[in-house]
Amino acid sequence: MSQPRKTIATSSGSPHARILGVGGYRPTRVVTNEEICATIDSTDQWIRDRSGIVTRHWAGPDESLVDMAVAAGGKALAHAGVSPDEVGAVLVATVTHFLQTPSAAVEIGHRLGTGRAPAMDLSAACAGFSYGVSLASDMVRAGSARTVLVIGAERLSDLTDRHDRGTAFLFGDGAGAVLVGPSSTPGIGPTIWGSDGSAYDTIRQRDSWKDVMESRLPWPNLVMEGPRVFRWAVWEMAPVVSAALEAAGITAEDLDAFIPHQANMRIIDSLIKAIKLPPHVPVARDIAETGNTSAASIPLAMERMLATGEAPSGGLALIMGFGAGLVYGAQVVTLP
Ligand code: UT7
Repeated sequence: MSQPRKTIATSSGSPHARILGVGGYRPTRVVTNEEICATIDSTDQWIRDRSGIVTRHWAGPDESLVDMAVAAGGKALAHAGVSPDEVGAVLVATVTHFLQTPSAAVEIGHRLGTGRAPAMDLSAACAGFSYGVSLASDMVRAGSARTVLVIGAERLSDLTDRHDRGTAFLFGDGAGAVLVGPSSTPGIGPTIWGSDGSAYDTIRQRDSWKDVMESRLPWPNLVMEGPRVFRWAVWEMAPVVSAALEAAGITAEDLDAFIPHQANMRIIDSLIKAIKLPPHVPVARDIAETGNTSAASIPLAMERMLATGEAPSGGLALIMGFGAGLVYGAQVVTLP
């Protein structure tokens, strides 16, 4: 007679999770549209009209991806009033870390002083921050980590072709971070997320590093079918945003802020119309000064809205990211 198998123990966490603090880092160097127009046939007016971008920040040699992430992560911890050794896990959303292994997250955690906390990178392009918040919320609620530092960090200038009219003006560098931790009340609503791999080639690194090395190809900058992505974002993301509101049990009327990925001001305006966002809800428009910083754009915009008083601490914000993959994620969060 065999012994009955033993039941194993499992972890259990906090009933709810919320964002405890936010922080951001923008590189010192501000790049104007005039400077961009030195290498592409364009104008300041065209760039403003078609994207809403007036300036973006490009990182210098002393502003590596890890440097920027450490700065943003440190600010988020200070805002939360939590010390680095209390961090339970580090998740870094990025597509511009140039080492296959180890992850940027382990170095960032080490420099911040998160000790033995598990650390890993997350590749979900401009949806990376929303994906990270979703995972962090589940980790805190399941008990696999008491707190999770979620960082979005990009040095997109490294992968931007300065001579490509379709992307040269669009991308910027920066890092944004939040600390997700336990809460007695719900602070992160259900995530509506997904992917459409049939459109994987609409935004991508042009060639793999292997092909670049073996076939001596030029530096593999990002390439994008801009108008196709634009149409997809406008048509497909409105239902995602509405579903995130519904899943959280609120309506657009109840929002204190709408913080979509800062991809293009016209996409933001189209979404506002599509979901009939009431005029009293403030909308993140950080793209004008910061450009499109992929995984960093939502936490950077969140930090700015809180710092300027545009959005209230404790208010309800709808966040939504979308990008290369194609991937998307949206959820309602309580602002720290
Ligand atoms: O963050 C991840 C997801 N990424 C996005 O969401 C980006 C989505 N796409 C976009 O934001 C837009 O497609 C862009 C801002 C990249 C481009 O704007 P667009 O309105 O879609 O421009 P287009 O490519 O359709 O070009 C419209 C016109 C064309 O001229 P004609 O054929 O109408 O005479 C282009 O040749 O504008 C011309 N054009 C430019 N003119 C001046 C294209 N790029 C430029 C330029 N300067 N840089």
